[in-house]
Amino acid sequence: MTRDIRMYICICKAVTETQICEAIQRGLCTRREITACLKAGAGCGKCNREISALLRRSQEGSSLKLSSGAMAPCSA
Ligand code: FES
Repeated sequence: MTRDIRMYICICKAVTETQICEAIQRGLCTRREITACLKAGAGCGKCNREISALLRRSQEGSSLKLSSGAMAPCSA
């Protein structure tokens, strides 16, 4: 099964999974940092679990496919 990497994670702030992954690649490593940078999670908070899951996956060394098609490690 292929994940849609353009999926919106934060509806309130219109932030996609790709944007969050790219922020993690740039060095953000906590949900608080992602919220400060992208505003994801700054609304209703329902996306916080998914943001945390993306961070956890990146810390476990998983690779996420970016919109460019490149596979990049999401390690912060
Ligand atoms: S869905 Fe992210 S703050 Fe509401």
